[in-house]
Amino acid sequence: MTVSVDIHAEPHPVWGDESHVVQLAADWSAQRVVRHTDPLSTARSASELAAAAGPTVTASGIGADAALRVFTDVLEPATRSQDDPYNLAYIAAAPTRAAVAFDLVTSAANIFGGIWEAGAGAIFAENEALAWITGMLGWPDTSGGCFVSGGTSGNLSALMTARETAKSRRGGRPAGGWQLACTANAHSSIHSAAKALDVDVVDVPVDERGHLTGPGLRKVLESHPDIFAVVASAGTTNEGLVDDLADVASVAHEFGVWMHVDGAYGGAGLAAPSVRHLFDGIEQADSFIVDPHKWLFAPYDCCALVYREPELARAVHAQHASYLDHVDRESWNPSDFALHLTRRVRGLPLWFSLATHGTDKYRDAVELSLSASRAVADAIRASDHLRLVREPELSVLLFERAGWTPERYSEWSHELAANGVILCVPTTWRGKTVLRLAFVNPATDPGHVIEVLETLR
Ligand SMILES: Cc1ncc(COP(=O)(O)O)c(C=O)c1O
Repeated sequence: MTVSVDIHAEPHPVWGDESHVVQLAADWSAQRVVRHTDPLSTARSASELAAAAGPTVTASGIGADAALRVFTDVLEPATRSQDDPYNLAYIAAAPTRAAVAFDLVTSAANIFGGIWEAGAGAIFAENEALAWITGMLGWPDTSGGCFVSGGTSGNLSALMTARETAKSRRGGRPAGGWQLACTANAHSSIHSAAKALDVDVVDVPVDERGHLTGPGLRKVLESHPDIFAVVASAGTTNEGLVDDLADVASVAHEFGVWMHVDGAYGGAGLAAPSVRHLFDGIEQADSFIVDPHKWLFAPYDCCALVYREPELARAVHAQHASYLDHVDRESWNPSDFALHLTRRVRGLPLWFSLATHGTDKYRDAVELSLSASRAVADAIRASDHLRLVREPELSVLLFERAGWTPERYSEWSHELAANGVILCVPTTWRGKTVLRLAFVNPATDPGHVIEVLETLR
């Protein structure tokens, strides 16, 4: 497949007209977007890559053809197809072709997305996508935020807003410093954020389902007056659990504590009627993130960060300096809502795909991953060699093969990865090694996964 790029570029005084490079990149991209993939793990050591690639960054350059050849023959093959339907490890990705194609457009347009004045049209479109998300949250029209690179930075920016808001509401920093409440199931990025913010993490014990609950939170808040925020999960990474959001919200607000919901993976479930009830109470949260690069079919990197009251974030994140005096502070400047200034308009691929396909297809696509995970869960329940170690809530399955050691699980996982059959990586659950499958790709055929699980006999 060849894309015809009819370019009549003015030669640049330094770079020449570069039209050949543009043609190469456009052709390569078009072919990649439609190429068959597999979930092979193909990483190589840096020394092997250096030997295979040869010198690339040189004083006179190696030329576009040679550089692209190195990328095609050596570098890209040493990366994994995150969007392969049988990459079921960690949390993979499943961008639509429309979203990937528009990522190219987004790059070509090279829009400064920090302030409205520079990126108004693109920021408007990003905000349309954010409004779809805040609509699903049941938040008021005045809510909003911006896109950041990933859940880690979204969580940090939200918690920074929470901490600074508490500081101004409670009249300064407590003598012993601030504290943040979450359960052991909260994502590791919450601990990174706590380190960056120099706050202590207070562990809230979970109930028997592994959930953060209202009573559990109440107990902790009663004895820790310097907690400024609680982080609830809407889809824990390891198990796909959704905390008791309604109860947590009412306790948090009774104590004047900010409620942040980390829906980096599971937030996509808001679009799926079959699990929407699990999110009840999210309408009362103060901030929320979801990574469209996980289960909302956008390419890397894309996290939607939204606030119920964005003015609170603006008060914390807006940067002020003489060279920023001209920024129109009345406009929607995405740089005002997170820890960043320059930013690419990374929400545009999501917007374009939503506009192309419509939100109904997003609902259907999320439901498809859920139904694939349910079909595989049913097969595991019906099997005599496997056992679900807990009931799934979203699209993550944890299961075990009786009698297998951690080493045996690893061997099985490596063999399938090496053959490009499926990527299924063991994890730890309540101290023991189990297998984990995370379904985020609507193209995953549960029948194929069920056949592969037969090899666990
Ligand atoms: C629940 C949750 N929160 C946060 C993150 C961090 O997101 P990112 O990797 O986009 O920084 C992840 C990543 O898997 C996650 O699953």
